[in-house]
Amino acid sequence: MKTIAIDGPAAAGKGTLSRRIAEDYGFHHLDTGLTYRATAKALIDRGLPLDDEAVAAGVARNLDLGGLDRTVLSAHDIGEAASKIAVMPSVRRALVEAQRGFAAREPGTVLDGRDIGTVVCPDAAVKLYVTASPEVRATRRLDEIVAGGGVADFETILDDIRRRDERDMGRADSPLRPADDAHLLDTSEMSIEAAFSAAKSIIDAAL
Ligand code: C5P
Repeated sequence: MKTIAIDGPAAAGKGTLSRRIAEDYGFHHLDTGLTYRATAKALIDRGLPLDDEAVAAGVARNLDLGGLDRTVLSAHDIGEAASKIAVMPSVRRALVEAQRGFAAREPGTVLDGRDIGTVVCPDAAVKLYVTASPEVRATRRLDEIVAGGGVADFETILDDIRRRDERDMGRADSPLRPADDAHLLDTSEMSIEAAFSAAKSIIDAAL
């Protein structure tokens, strides 16, 4: 079994890149952000508090990885709620256990998130840390929203991205940071095609 770990901040393009890589190598893919989002959504749907660690961890332990769907979980307030419960150590312990179970699947797996190379799969065969400047990430997010027929404001998105970065990089448990042995991929000036072929060269050399 081989695991490819892909980490990076919100809206850096990890999702698209991870799906392309998984497809190319015939590996299973898990977007671990969805496990935090699904836990947050389950709490909201059941009218449960977002600030009670024991309650949130109970929901996290019962999460079914089979039913994760980004279209249902993409709402902005779910992302915000997810990053709040993601600071809770017992929520992380429950979700990391499920993610490690997924990582062991044959013939191989691609996991993307914030702490895959550092905590979830420290022995991953390849680790990528994908970033782009906050302005580029905000522009991509805005383009996505506009392409979907929505309306949004660049400065609001940029503020949101900066706040999420601060929360993800500043938390005590499993902060977002590149693993010591991660390959850095800054996609600020790259198309998705260019990012994919750069990632593929790194992975081919390592697998
Ligand atoms: O990647 P996405 O925006 O869907 O993730 C939602 C939130 O879940 C992130 O802001 C982050 O706080 C949290 N998360 C995490 N660890 C991961 C994946 C996501 O803490 N491995």
